[in-house]
Amino acid sequence: MTTWIDAWQPADGADRARALFTERFDAEPNGVWSAPGRVNLIGEHTDYNGGLCLPFALPHRTYVAVRPVDSDRIRLISAQEEGIREVDLSTVAPGTVQGWPSYVAGVAWALRQAGHAVRGFDIAVDSCVPYGSGLSSSAALECAVAVALDELFDLGLAATDQGRTTLTAVCVRAENEIAGANTGGMDQAVSLRGRAGHALELDCLDDSVRHVPFDLTGHDLALLVIDTRAEHSHAGGEYAARRAECEQAATLLQVRTLREITPDGLGDALAGLARLTGPEGDGSAAAEVLVRRVRHVVTEIARVQEFVELLAADRVDEVGPAMDASHASLRDDYQVSCRELDLAVDTARDAGALGARMTGGGFGGSAIALVRTGDVESVAEAVAAAFAGAELRAPTFLVATPEGPAA
Ligand code: GLA
Repeated sequence: MTTWIDAWQPADGADRARALFTERFDAEPNGVWSAPGRVNLIGEHTDYNGGLCLPFALPHRTYVAVRPVDSDRIRLISAQEEGIREVDLSTVAPGTVQGWPSYVAGVAWALRQAGHAVRGFDIAVDSCVPYGSGLSSSAALECAVAVALDELFDLGLAATDQGRTTLTAVCVRAENEIAGANTGGMDQAVSLRGRAGHALELDCLDDSVRHVPFDLTGHDLALLVIDTRAEHSHAGGEYAARRAECEQAATLLQVRTLREITPDGLGDALAGLARLTGPEGDGSAAAEVLVRRVRHVVTEIARVQEFVELLAADRVDEVGPAMDASHASLRDDYQVSCRELDLAVDTARDAGALGARMTGGGFGGSAIALVRTGDVESVAEAVAAAFAGAELRAPTFLVATPEGPAA
């Protein structure tokens, strides 16, 4: 028995958010906006190192119905909970808003910080992006709010890619400073700048993008997403620790970001790091740990380039080994996988997947597997059976296709 998480049709999602707004606020919203979650094909934990990544936007979206008000009051409701939450926009600052409203209020706050005249609003939220699955439900919420406020307060940013790059930075600031998660920006970039039918090659050094055609159906392939439903309660602390280790390594190697270390220079860089005797007791990581982290980041950036070259040459059925190598590197060198992710990936491969890897930050969340269209069900069934056999919580599944950005 396998459970599939289907995306809503956009008109259905919009109707749900509008109906929720009307029912609970007893008024009509000015409109409904939405933004997608994402999967990352390859390029994990590279964004905050000035590297490359290759995500695409899912058909699963978060919908927001919004009406501006003539004050600084934000009132929020969600289909997932009872009651109305309230935030005073003029008092928002790091640490003042808890829980999911911090993503919404954070975007309004960050827009104001950037000099935009944003006021309060009423907002109703509903979503089919699985929550806590490593598929960026938080970025979907931020980006839906960003395009809503952009239109309601006449900012004109969502109309151009340059403006969307500005909105991306706004959403990242909201997440880093108001929601308190020091994430890198890949999720917001693809939610705002992705393109249907394409993966987004994102260069995090200068925020430039390349839209890479990503057609699986034409090759009789599908991308199976396996949500392991593993709790990842330590994810925040571990994520911050990895980021700090990368910064520490960059400082020791005297580079601005690890992007500056090329595959050719990797041997020398690792030898240099290995010679360092990590100062103990001052919270810095041992040299051996830094060697692993740097090796992951540098080889992972090279794997993104390899993956993109294969796509450009219409050889998508050959990307499996790069996916497998990415997973091994994340598991062994970056050490962000977990038992559930490894089981999902190994089982999918044994059941015929061409390649498989964890996607997103790790420590739980989702894995992806590239499979022949005819094998989607049997691979999912094999993974579900393996989880049952290991007495793990039942995973859920979806088939991911690249869809459009926030609108
Ligand atoms: C999370 C973060 C991203 C990125 C990935 C790992 O999804 O939000 O910024 O760092 O982890 O690639």
